[in-house]
Amino acid sequence: MTKLSHKKESSWVRYGQMAGAWKPLAVAALFAFAGSAGAAKVAAGHVPFRVSSDCQVCHGMHGAATDYGVIPMLAGQHEAYIVMQLKQFRNGHRADQNGNIYMAPVAQALTNGQIKEVASYFAAQRPRMQSGGTKYAGASQGKAIFNNGITSEQIPACMECHGANAQGAGTFPDIAGQRYEYIVQQLKYFHNGTRSNMLMNQIAKNITVPQMKEVAAYLSSL
Ligand code: HEC
Ligand code: HEC
Repeated sequence: MTKLSHKKESSWVRYGQMAGAWKPLAVAALFAFAGSAGAAKVAAGHVPFRVSSDCQVCHGMHGAATDYGVIPMLAGQHEAYIVMQLKQFRNGHRADQNGNIYMAPVAQALTNGQIKEVASYFAAQRPRMQSGGTKYAGASQGKAIFNNGITSEQIPACMECHGANAQGAGTFPDIAGQRYEYIVQQLKYFHNGTRSNMLMNQIAKNITVPQMKEVAAYLSSL
């Protein structure tokens, strides 16, 4: 099971732990960046301030960072879904461990207007989240679960809600090309109820850890 390790001395883990203390540093870093050669690339499109000051540290400027498997891709994710999740991190509804530690402090600092702005920015990023290739075992079994479910084990077909290509719509998330570790982690959270959602808690109730890994192997390969 991939857990965020507090022992890992990575910049984003420290960033999360510092919660309130990081803002002046992030702002200083932003100004330093504005004077650097990278500025031209950023100036090409409007990047909301919160993206460069906060989100990019963990998610990358385009929502496609791949440094940490438990940090989701946001590039091309549906705007309505992003808005809903940010509000749920902010009001404590999405209180799974990683959400609570890393996203709650960030989301609590966002106004509704800023939530809308960052959500529309990440939703518009192209290319959308990309396949990680077929790197993990069990993708073909995972495909069968995704398309057909396992009736005898009361696991419904994922495609009924996420769509035939796993791209979702509205508040149903796009999970095609999402990170393997992140998907496994979320299915565990839904399974044990720490990430609360009426539909997914029911769906994930009977799924085993090996099945979670199979379906994640398939989805991350799309
Ligand atoms: C300290 C690192 C960190 C920062 C900074 C950060 N995030 Fe996150 N973000 C995470 C982690 C870790 C998760 C996974 C949480 C979980 O497992 O529930 C996440 C999850 C999310 C999700 C849920 C995605 C999904 O598919 O459900 C959204 C949306 C999100 N972040 C948006 C943002 C935005 C917008 C910002 C900037 C305003 C931001 N994040 C800043 C680490 C971070
Ligand atoms: C009845 C509809 C429905 C079915 C069937 C369904 N899902 Fe979901 N799924 C959702 C909804 C709605 C959400 C968003 C939950 C939230 O807002 O927290 C979601 C969220 C998820 C997420 C989290 C994505 C993210 O970015 O954080 C994963 C992973 C996921 N589903 C995988 C699956 C898998 C695997 C299956 C099949 C075994 C499945 N889902 C079947 C409705 C469904």
